[in-house]
Amino acid sequence: MTVCSAPGKVYLFGEHAVVYGEPAVPAAIERRARVTVEPRADDRVRVTAEDLSLDGFTVEYGGSTGGRPNVDVPTPLVEAAMGYVDAAVRQARSAADAPDAGFDITVESDIPLGAGLGSSAAVVVAGIDAATRALDEPLDRRDLADRAYRAEFEVQDGQASRADTFCSTMGGAVRVEGDDCEPIDAPNLPFVIGFDGGAGDTGALVAGVRERRERYRFAADTVRSIGDIVRAGEELLAGAVPEADPSRELLAELGDLMDFNHGLLAALGVSARSLDAMVWAARDAGAHGAKLTGAGGGGCIVALDPDTETPTALSFTQGCEAAFRAELATEGVRVEAP
Ligand code: MEV
Repeated sequence: MTVCSAPGKVYLFGEHAVVYGEPAVPAAIERRARVTVEPRADDRVRVTAEDLSLDGFTVEYGGSTGGRPNVDVPTPLVEAAMGYVDAAVRQARSAADAPDAGFDITVESDIPLGAGLGSSAAVVVAGIDAATRALDEPLDRRDLADRAYRAEFEVQDGQASRADTFCSTMGGAVRVEGDDCEPIDAPNLPFVIGFDGGAGDTGALVAGVRERRERYRFAADTVRSIGDIVRAGEELLAGAVPEADPSRELLAELGDLMDFNHGLLAALGVSARSLDAMVWAARDAGAHGAKLTGAGGGGCIVALDPDTETPTALSFTQGCEAAFRAELATEGVRVEAP
């Protein structure tokens, strides 16, 4: 039995624009998906998702990847989750040159599904790592990140960047621009997350941005402007002391850029009433900045606030199901049991 875990992430800056070659800076957070893999004597795959939860958001099902799980969450989310596990299995089989390898797989996660916190990337990264280790063919981190990206790319019909999977593999903050992925230093940012209890359809949201970008020159300019925000954010991070508490001035400057980034994402059509409400509640409570994180359409926002006001205000905001603080996860994927 091999158990690996991998963290979720928030986007400090740059989601969506990263799909078109602009840079992005995601940061891993201490919410993890854990995948347990036991090789089988036959070529079948059995998946059990024991607890994909975040305060009242629970899925329980079991069965082969071809079966219909019995769950109380929207079927598209479950189908999406199963699609990612299937793609991870294909990558692990191919990496280990074991096309007929069968597995019993258990997924547990405290990252809400499809909510912008990188749940699918964490499951895919932890799943490929655990399955290849179970077959005695462990991958180095760069190869693992690459395999995980290919799995996401396949499930998302070719509309995925390397950002989520690279960040989940490496941990900490990373910079991604096309195929160029590097860990970067970051201070200890005081992330606060607000979750509306819902999820966006990543494929549809990415397709919507693509359509607007192709149709309107100003939408293409908006995507480029997000790239400018990311470059400005990177400069700020490069001047900060790694892993130390950031100054109020730095938080204010990063927060300004996050606010700007949210406005541009809203202009591209990927925000939602619930996300805007949480963003404004955070700002009104004194957060240094707030933006949606991930594909949008529903799910989570991320704000910067070292004090207690923002989580408290979010917990009283209509439409906010959960508000919590998230630590930067300095460790990426890791083996929990060999
Ligand atoms: C989704 O978490 C982030 C997007 O930028 C898509 C991607 O980068 O693959 C919307």
